[in-house]
Amino acid sequence: MRVLLTGHNGYIGSVLGSYLQEASHDVVGLDTGYFQECTLPPNKTNFPVIWKDLRDLELVDLEGFEAVIHLAALSNDPLGDLNKRWTDEINREASVRLANLCKAAGIRRFLFSSSCIMYGAATTGLVNEESPLDPKTDYATSKVESEYAISKLADKHFSPTFLRNGTVYGRSPRMRFDTVLNNLMGSALTSGKVVLYSDGKPWRPVVHVQDVSKAFIHLLEAPVEVIHNQAFNTGADHLNKTIIELAEIVVGLVPGCELEILAKPGADQRTYKADFNKFATSFPNFTFQWSPRDGAQELSDALREIRLSDSDYQNHHFTRLRWLSFLLKTGRLDPSLRWQPEDVPKT
Ligand SMILES: NC(=O)c1ccc[n+]([C@@H]2O[C@H](COP(=O)([O-])OP(=O)(O)OC[C@H]3O[C@@H](n4cnc5c(N)ncnc54)[C@H](O)[C@@H]3O)[C@@H](O)[C@H]2O)c1
Repeated sequence: MRVLLTGHNGYIGSVLGSYLQEASHDVVGLDTGYFQECTLPPNKTNFPVIWKDLRDLELVDLEGFEAVIHLAALSNDPLGDLNKRWTDEINREASVRLANLCKAAGIRRFLFSSSCIMYGAATTGLVNEESPLDPKTDYATSKVESEYAISKLADKHFSPTFLRNGTVYGRSPRMRFDTVLNNLMGSALTSGKVVLYSDGKPWRPVVHVQDVSKAFIHLLEAPVEVIHNQAFNTGADHLNKTIIELAEIVVGLVPGCELEILAKPGADQRTYKADFNKFATSFPNFTFQWSPRDGAQELSDALREIRLSDSDYQNHHFTRLRWLSFLLKTGRLDPSLRWQPEDVPKT
């Protein structure tokens, strides 16, 4: 299939882009390149790329594609604190606009990278795709509202699909240490310590970046009647872990590492244990290969191999909020979060 992959230059996109090529899809990336300089170690994309802000896309950019995988977003909760408006403008408004453009361009398959974060503080056991949504942040709200608006566009010519991912971890050329397991492992390896600022009880499904990438491809290739206007919690039951279980896995893999629990009142209480039954029954041939323990081991090996230092781990390049704040402070991004003309990525 000829596939447009938005956000190809990000943490998930730079793994998924290569897998799409390996699966013989004709992939074109589209990204504004916020994290173009944030590589660990550097990688080079070898598929064609459109460097453009999602908000500035036109119909002509979408000509000739059969599918769009839409990852581009301000991707995580703290980014909402940077400027509430940007999260809404990029994550919701531009995503809904993109979906409308896809429909106008006759692109039937539209895979949207959504998140289990939309279940918020779900205290009622397992959450499935029919459970009430309870977004606790601007980021989570942007995902809920996007799904809602895009699903209304579905018809016999347009089949959106919503992959509600758990928190993604594992090595990527555009590494980030601001997601839970990457953060814990980076800390363990560079300081010999894992510190939890909550009691560690919240549930947080996790999914390896390789598995989530393969899941996108599996759904891209699935019969359209299975995925038409459907949301899927994307993962498997063995990926539901509490934060403390994740921390204990990490501590167990790094000799001499200590676990410190500094629970503070008002600590992050987002908790959701996802029911993955719909995914398992809809896609019986798909397996999530990485258990959190094996995946954490693989991540640890990968980070040791590149000799992750404390300055790498602490570096603003690998925390989305800190990097965007730096680009704004240094004037490379303008107040609308667009590049100054001389800074737009060219390669
Ligand atoms: N990483 C996770 O744990 C996780 C979990 C659930 C869902 N998701 C979703 O998956 C998607 C990808 O996540 P990620 O971790 O790869 O994030 P990321 O921040 O690493 O990558 C996002 C990419 O989108 C691009 N982008 C942002 N705004 C843009 C704009 N206005 N125009 C064009 N490009 C723009 C960025 O330059 C970046 O390359 C996001 O939609 C995110 O919400 C991620």
